[in-house]
Amino acid sequence: MNIHSRFRRIALGAALAALLPLATPAVAADPIIIKFSHVVAADTPKGKGADHFKQLVEERTQGRVKVEVYPNSTLYKDKEELEALQLGSVQMLAPSLSKFGPLGLKEFEAFDLPFIFPDRNVLARVTEGPVGAGLFRKLESRGIVGLGYWDNGFKSMSANKPLRKTEDLKGLKMRIQSSKVLEGQMRAVGAIPQVMAFSEVYQALQTGVVDGTENTISNYYTQKAHEVQKHLTVSDHGYIGYAVITNKKFWEGLPPDLRATLEKAMQETTRYVNVIAKQENDDALAKIRAAGKTEIITLSAAERDAWRKAMLPVHKEMASRVGAETIAAIAKEAAALGYK
Ligand code: LMR
Repeated sequence: MNIHSRFRRIALGAALAALLPLATPAVAADPIIIKFSHVVAADTPKGKGADHFKQLVEERTQGRVKVEVYPNSTLYKDKEELEALQLGSVQMLAPSLSKFGPLGLKEFEAFDLPFIFPDRNVLARVTEGPVGAGLFRKLESRGIVGLGYWDNGFKSMSANKPLRKTEDLKGLKMRIQSSKVLEGQMRAVGAIPQVMAFSEVYQALQTGVVDGTENTISNYYTQKAHEVQKHLTVSDHGYIGYAVITNKKFWEGLPPDLRATLEKAMQETTRYVNVIAKQENDDALAKIRAAGKTEIITLSAAERDAWRKAMLPVHKEMASRVGAETIAAIAKEAAALGYK
């Protein structure tokens, strides 16, 4: 290389260096990390919701926020995840509404009352109206902010014997979530409730630690519960949905523009989940049917009515726990849609 070309290269280098600060942004700050932990499979309404939220947030914040989704209890199980959120070890969760009782927030267990929601429209009025807002206000005293209510769906009941009448449940050990209302529901039909983390259910069914369980069809299918349960009754006797929650200190410490972006992404994700949830459960039922390992029992209207009668006393029994006014407020939303 002769002296001229070397000089030209040096001059070019200097010119580029002078341009560089203009061409590249200031050194990017570390992204804000949101760890979103949950206990179900990715291929469920909640799992898809978490992934959808991640996608929206990462697109719209252009690297300023990263959402790490941990499905299937890979990070924490049911009870631990709530503690982890309060300690700030994770920033977002979507526990089922049945899991807030142990935090002393018993009113959430109203969602567990059997046959309380005649359909999803009533449910939407409850979560989107004053009941839903009132419950979220109660979270604040626990250092938690509620961001949205996500649907899953109505529950079925399973065992290794056919469950057509509630009498068939007598004496069976049934896995439930950590809710006193669910305990009451199982006792009302003579079953023995066993509280257990979601991640342990498959093995407990397989080894006979419990005889049966209740859940939404999408949870049954994605946990392969149908492989270890011979009979599944589509009873729609109760509901499972979620509160998406975050750590209050974390949330309030976010730059306001980012928080607004996250709020909008959450609103859109909530709409997305609540649109896909029913279809996800319908698809899962078709897959269980196709797998051919489980008898699917559909109750006639009269049979389902007998289940309702057997379980309805739980409403009265649990009124002092979940609040008679919460039950009345839900009944009001049902009445607004013509249900008595
Ligand atoms: C369960 O524990 O049975 C479910 O509520 C898990 C979930 O989050 O859907």
